[in-house]
Amino acid sequence: MLFPDYRPRRLRQNENFRRMIRETRLSVDDLILPIFAVEGKKVRNPISSMPGHCQMSVDNIVKETKEAVELGIPAVMLFGIPDKKDSLATSAYAKDGIVQKTVKAIKAEVPDLVVITDVCLCEYTDHGHCGMVQNGIIDNDATLDLLARTALSHTQAGADMVAPSDMMDGRVSEIRDSLDENGFETIPIMSYAAKYCSAFYYPFRQAAESAPQFGDRRTYQMDPANSTEAIREVTLDVEEGADIIMVKPAIPYLDIIYRVREEIDLPVAAYNVSGEFAMIKAADKLGWLDGNKVMMETLTAIKRAGADMILTYFAKEAAKELVGH
Ligand code: PBG
Repeated sequence: MLFPDYRPRRLRQNENFRRMIRETRLSVDDLILPIFAVEGKKVRNPISSMPGHCQMSVDNIVKETKEAVELGIPAVMLFGIPDKKDSLATSAYAKDGIVQKTVKAIKAEVPDLVVITDVCLCEYTDHGHCGMVQNGIIDNDATLDLLARTALSHTQAGADMVAPSDMMDGRVSEIRDSLDENGFETIPIMSYAAKYCSAFYYPFRQAAESAPQFGDRRTYQMDPANSTEAIREVTLDVEEGADIIMVKPAIPYLDIIYRVREEIDLPVAAYNVSGEFAMIKAADKLGWLDGNKVMMETLTAIKRAGADMILTYFAKEAAKELVGH
């Protein structure tokens, strides 16, 4: 059927028709709120490039998570910024490490919230790389045990899910084995499976104080030019036991989200990263864009591409928009 018999505008003429034919519905159920934890009390250090976000101490994080639950947000992703960094990332798997303490406090006071922990070493190493460094090279296999120890200690503290973001080969199976051996076979792994070496992480590295002190992350994170390689990476993680597969960043990689959704039958998460957030906030501040509208369009686009869940610094604002606050 062609014009003039068929007129697509017929079903766009009012909001009720538009609601009836809408294909993608963003929901608060889809949102995961990232949070940055620091040592201390009553700390709330604003992150300048991420308006509305702060490095927070445990007491303030508990308040933040209560607010998230009131808004209907089902989960948070925790990042830790330790006081001490060293070459072995010891604070990453310390029993009283910053993430471990924060998880305990949240689970004690806000038990219904899903607490996911980012498992990586870059915030904890003095050189800022995600793995062990031997003679200037990131040593894959020497890193695996430390990642597994970190994931296990997060789980022992009460984490509901662990999310390795380091991009070392073989880390999902190493973490799975260690969780299973210690009786945590029910704890799922959300794998940052297709994580690109992206300049969009810049604000995050200021927030998490995790920029590499030499070189870059190109020997472990993926080349932004590659798409088929993402399928190989994701397939490996599925075989190693991942329960949720993540694509990161989101907006510049919608094609990857789409492809992963088509080819893999596990839930797909997308990380709407710090630089994506910062660009919209900056343009809104300059009066160049309507930040709220661009936020909703962005999150809807990520979902339309195939993401089942979205990690986003917009989680609270989007939740307010969705529940009509
Ligand atoms: C840790 C990690 C990073 C992000 C999430 N986990 C930074 C990096 O890989 O350098 C980025 C998140 C964001 O930009 O919002 N490896």
